This record gives sequence, C-alpha cells and structure tokens, in this order.
Amino acid sequence: MSYGRCLDSKFNALHLCRGVESSWKQEIPLNVWEYGEGNMKAVICKQWGPPESLVVENIPSLKADKAHVIVKVKACGVNFPDTLIIQGKYQYKPDLPFSPGAEIAGVIRELGQSVSGIEVGDRVLAFIGWGGFSEEVSVPVDKIIHIPEGMDFKTASAFVMTYGTSYYALKHRAQLKSGETLLVLGAAGGIGLAAVELGKIMGARVIASASSDDKLAVCKEYGADELINYSTQNFRSIISEITNGQGVDVVCDPVGGDLSEQAFRSTGWKGRFLVMGFASGEISRIPLNLPLLKGSSIVGVFWSDFIRREKGTYAYVLQELTKWYAQGKLKPLVSKIYPLEQAALALNDIVQRRVTGKIVLVP
Ligand SMILES: NC(=O)c1ccc[n+]([C@@H]2O[C@H](COP(=O)([O-])OP(=O)(O)OC[C@H]3O[C@@H](n4cnc5c(N)ncnc54)[C@H](OP(=O)(O)O)[C@@H]3O)[C@@H](O)[C@H]2O)c1
Repeated sequence: MSYGRCLDSKFNALHLCRGVESSWKQEIPLNVWEYGEGNMKAVICKQWGPPESLVVENIPSLKADKAHVIVKVKACGVNFPDTLIIQGKYQYKPDLPFSPGAEIAGVIRELGQSVSGIEVGDRVLAFIGWGGFSEEVSVPVDKIIHIPEGMDFKTASAFVMTYGTSYYALKHRAQLKSGETLLVLGAAGGIGLAAVELGKIMGARVIASASSDDKLAVCKEYGADELINYSTQNFRSIISEITNGQGVDVVCDPVGGDLSEQAFRSTGWKGRFLVMGFASGEISRIPLNLPLLKGSSIVGVFWSDFIRREKGTYAYVLQELTKWYAQGKLKPLVSKIYPLEQAALALNDIVQRRVTGKIVLVP
C-alpha cells in the first residue's frame, strides 16, 4: 500500500491517534477509535528524522469512543522531548506514522457514551505524551484537567509538563527546604525557568546558570538571586564564592554533558543532584566516589512514569500549581507562538537553543 492511499484510509487516522493511546496502552484497549465527518489538519511524523522531515496533512476527523473525549485543540506546548520522539530517540517510540505534541489545551467538542462530569464546550488541558500537533485529539477522560480560571489556552498548553516536572523534582524528589541553595542549569529553558520560579516560592536561594547573558536576564526577572554564565565564567569557583565554600544543597540538571560533573562537584554535604534530562545530548558519567565523599544523593526524575504510578501525588502537584497560578505567584513564559504548519521551525528553535521559557503551536 502506498503511503498516500494509507493516509486516505481510516487506518491511518488510527495510527495517528495511537500517539495518544500508546502511552496509556496498559489501560486502554486498542482499536477503540471511531471517526467523524470531515477532516482535520495534523503534523505527522512518517519516518524518524529531524524536524524538517515532518509533514502537514489532512486526515479524517475523530469521533469519541466510550471513555474518551474529543478536544478541539486551541494550543499545543512544544517541549524538548518532542525533538527526540520524532527521531525515535525518546523513552517512548510510537508506531509510525504519528503526530508529536505532548500537551494540549482546547475545548471539548464531543463526549464518549460513558463520560460524565464534563461538558461539551469545557475548557481543558491534557498531558498526552504525543498526538497534540493536530486540530483535534481523542483523550481518555481521566487525563482531562479543567483549565484554571483566568488562564488562556496558550499558557495552559505550556504549563503542566515543565512546572509539573520541576515541582515534583524539587518538592518530592529533592525535598528542597526554605533557606537551602538551589543551582539550576539551563535555567532559561522550559524546565529550568520553572525550577527558578518554583525554587524561589519554596524559599530557596536560587543560582541560575545558562549560556548567555540574555538568557540570564530572563532568569533574573523570574527571581534568580545569583547568575552564572557557564559559557564565559568559571562555574565552580563562582559557586564556591557564592556559597562561602559550602556548596549548594540541590542541583536541578536538565542539560547533562560536562556540566553535570562540575555541578555535582559543587554540591555540599548531603546535597541532592536531580537528574532531569540531557538537552546537551550527552549523558555524563559521575564517578561514584563523589556521592560517597559528600554524603550526597543522585536522584532521578521521570515525569511520565510518576503521573502513571503516583496518581494521588500527581493530583496534589496539580492542585498546588494551579493554586499558585491563581494567587499570581507563577508567570509562565510563552516566548514564541507559531502556527501549526511551522512546527519544524518551533522544534528547531529548541534544538538550536534559541528558546526562553516555552514555545506554543496554534492550529
Ligand atoms: N525528567 C523528566 O521527566 C523530564 C520532563 C520534561 C523534560 N525533560 C528533559 O529535560 C531537558 C530539558 O527540557 P526543556 O523542556 O527544559 O528544554 P529547553 O527548554 O530546550 O531547555 C534546555 C536547555 O538546555 C540547554 N542546552 C545545552 N545544550 C543544549 C543543546 N545541545 N540543545 C538544546 N539545549 C541545550 C539550553 O540552555 P543554555 O543555552 O543556557 O545552555 C536550553 O535552554 C530535556 O532533556 C528533556 O527531555 C525531562
């Protein structure tokens, strides 16, 4: 079967939807999708590759299955993992073809027969793993979250993954306490800037580090107490100076590479080093004598599995974050907005380190 014919068939739309479905495949039976009238636009990954290999196509519109809702997407957050998933390099590898896009915000267009407690027209957001670079998605109803009052769609689509991961990391994994010192690497990025903001709210002294003075200026606006440009400054000696030789209590590392070991060497007694990600493309190998000598811990953080395994704590994290948003404590930064058709430009901004805060796509 040629790919063009496949795209014209409903079978193809099934694959696209599996972008949503597969991340929850232990909970949802396959072949649950039905199709409505008309077409919708979606960004599709047909083969593993760079952002330029994505295509935009019209595919059949969706119809809600029993425990699902159809969301008309108003905005889709773009995240670093989207750049990996299209290359087949992420923890999850969807069946081809699929649509990337891990988090969406929009309006409920249709309800499955067994869905209750939610109405057509409700404003909602969802973390779906992939499938969001589309005009509509089918989402299991238990993944749906109502958008907090006063939050627009673009902000809502760029909120849960980065703030959720950083909150979970700082509060539940590192048990960051008021008065402690937090070092954030890649501090102007999605995970980093959320960690800067959340660290301040939790009462920490925050050291933001990034590759340019422009990025650090953004970190300063978001509350960072100290700034280190790791492209031009001597990272370790400045941390030693700032902390009077004591080292930092917690490191939030979404970057990896050479920086990780330097940052680990800058932790103090009983420090906690949060392994968040490897945006540099390199997984560092920290010698195990270092945690021994410092009585410190290397702590892994895995958001997708956390929300699957620890639903109660996930609900608590969302509650805290939406409360802080409503109180005006959080100011999510959406620094660029692209139309859906320009998904490749948005993803390349991330790959080329041109982003502060988050980018959002709008259909
Ligand atoms: N653990 C989890 O559950 C979880 C959840 C979400 C994301 N993540 C991971 O966390 C990492 C960061 O995600 P993010 O959304 O914060 O990404 P982001 O917004 O693109 O920020 C990443 C930062 O890393 C730095 N960086 C260094 N080398 C880079 C390179 N070669 N390419 C791109 N950035 C580079 C950049 O800051 P400078 O230019 O200042 O160095 C950039 O601002 C990714 O690895 C992602 O997969 C993990």
